[in-house]
Order: sequence, then C-alpha cells, then structure tokens
Amino acid sequence: MPRKTDRRTFIRDTGMSLAALALATHASGCDGGTSVPPPPQNGVEINGNRLRLDISHPDVAGLTASGGFFVFQSFGAIVINVGDDTYRAFSSVCTHDGCTVSQYNGTRMRCPCHGAEFTREGAVQKGPATRALPEFPVTRSGNVLEVAK
Ligand code: FES
Repeated sequence: MPRKTDRRTFIRDTGMSLAALALATHASGCDGGTSVPPPPQNGVEINGNRLRLDISHPDVAGLTASGGFFVFQSFGAIVINVGDDTYRAFSSVCTHDGCTVSQYNGTRMRCPCHGAEFTREGAVQKGPATRALPEFPVTRSGNVLEVAK
C-alpha cells in the first residue's frame, strides 16, 4: 500500500508542478522576454483608478515630446503624446492575448509578443489582435495629467 500512496503523491505533486510551470511559462511567455520600459519614479501618483502625472517633473518630462510615451504596467495603461501637446491613454493589455503593449513609435503602439499594432486612436492597425485598445480619458490641469479608468 505505501507504494500506491507514493505513486498518488508523485502524480499529485507532479501535476501541480506542471500546472505551476505552465502558468509561469504563460505569464513570462506573454512578454516573450521583451522588456517593458520602466515608468518614471517621481512625478507619478497612482490612486485607485486614477493616474496623475506631473509633466513638469524631470522624470516625466520625456512624455512632453511628440512621440513620448510611458507604460504604467501596475496601472495597466500606456500614455502617449500624439503631438500638438495632446495626450492619450489606452489600456496596455493587448487585446490579442494579454501581453503588455509596450512600444510606441510616434504613430503606432505595438505589442512585442506577436507584433500587433494599434493606431494612436487605439484601433487595430495590424493583427493578430482584432479588437481596439480601450481608451482611458485624459484630463489636464496645468502641468498635471490625470488618467481615469
Ligand atoms: Fe499582443 Fe499577441 S498578445 S500580439
């Protein structure tokens, strides 16, 4: 009987390990080893469903250039400068398979996992994604941008 118990234990433990490995592989595989640019350390405040950015702060100043962007993974948003001192924010969760949309070249946002591209309006420009990125409203008061989701 101890042999049967050992076998069951082995199968149970192995099954759990494989399940954990599968989850870890999927989680890390989503970003395919690509790195998400780090968000600014200062000039940023996340409070529940609100993200506040002080664009006068040197850490956030990169956003003020046309084509500038930051990804706030913990908030789930990518904030982009579309030019003419205009900012937009979108969900950074790719609508294809949940990777982080972490790239912006001034005209398109891109998910590095499978190469989906989105316009500055969030629409799908290139698959495999088929759904637009949800947009979050951005309001501005002086040098403070507030993103709400
Ligand atoms: Fe973004 Fe596949 S998860 S392209």
